[in-house]
Amino acid sequence: MRQATVYIDSSALQYNLNRVKQLAPHSKIVSMVKANAYGHGVKDCLAALNNTDAFGVATLEEALELRSHGAKHPITLIEGIFNANEMDAVLKHQLECVIHHHQQVEWLLNYKDEYIQQGLKVWIKLNSGMNRLGFKIDDIIDVITRLKREGLHCVLVMHFANADVPAHPMNQQQIQQLLKIKDMCAPIEVSCCNSAAIFNWPELHFDYVRPGIMLYGATPFADKNIHELDLKPVMTFTARIIALNSIQAGESVGYGSLFTAEENIDIAIVSIGYGDGYPRAYTTQNYVAIDGKLRRVIGRVSMDMIAIDVTGLNAALDQEVELWGQHRLVDDVAQANGTIGYELLCRLSNRPIRRKIEI
Ligand SMILES: Cc1ncc(COP(=O)(O)O)c(C=O)c1O
Repeated sequence: MRQATVYIDSSALQYNLNRVKQLAPHSKIVSMVKANAYGHGVKDCLAALNNTDAFGVATLEEALELRSHGAKHPITLIEGIFNANEMDAVLKHQLECVIHHHQQVEWLLNYKDEYIQQGLKVWIKLNSGMNRLGFKIDDIIDVITRLKREGLHCVLVMHFANADVPAHPMNQQQIQQLLKIKDMCAPIEVSCCNSAAIFNWPELHFDYVRPGIMLYGATPFADKNIHELDLKPVMTFTARIIALNSIQAGESVGYGSLFTAEENIDIAIVSIGYGDGYPRAYTTQNYVAIDGKLRRVIGRVSMDMIAIDVTGLNAALDQEVELWGQHRLVDDVAQANGTIGYELLCRLSNRPIRRKIEI
């Protein structure tokens, strides 16, 4: 059987959650587990995240999956509900809604008594310049005032467009807007920090922080790696060598013959490809780790295979190769392929086997 494997290290996940607690000791933690826990498999992550205060998901289906695995924590739907019909499930499963447009206010108010009775909070989204979701500064005060008057417990929520670039001028604009609304709507709970913001601005941690990528041991920053941030990679993605060849100088490898050997080399064919979620974009900067040492990926990535230069190594059939993990960080694979760790983690296919490493 093919042994392409995604290992999920529960103790690394717990370690990273503790890092959030260390950095934001006075805030509650909403662990972001949307997109199947950033591709890690929400079921395999739950036990290690048990000490979180709450979870954040993007869709009702993701929230129901969490409940089906026995999660009892508060769950926030970070885009709220998509239509009025979803209110029944919200109440049945005790989910907290983000409200980012006026129709959602009406949908919620139709069920407000039950929502309040269940002790659910409502998260009001400020659009402070990212211009995806939320009420603009002129509108949000009326919405919050109305919801408070109706007896709802409100949390003011904002999301940074450039938290990964602390000096970006948009950050100060967003912070000033948030602080203004916070003052005008006092008393109100506040949440604005994703992973990058948790590192950048301790003074903005407020009531809830919302870490995502840092929990999984990948970096939110282009210029800081996880060692500098003291995080541990949760996912190790491996595959095995299924063929060994020697090629002569002048011979090429793979589709498009993009790689031509300049000298005689030994190559290993590893059973992994873009059909599993390994990126296909052509680059000469792709490396994998064998026995902890980096080896070059050569030629085009196929759907099911890649080729590696193993010259000088005693590579063997069935040997395990790390595509990303401890020795080859997912962030480095992402950078070599013009993307971010988030994307590579989220877009793994369901073809690799999944194994959880228990604590
Ligand atoms: C509203 C919101 N909060 C928090 C996060 C977590 O962000 P990160 O993974 O960068 O920590 C996200 C992720 O996209 C988000 O959309």
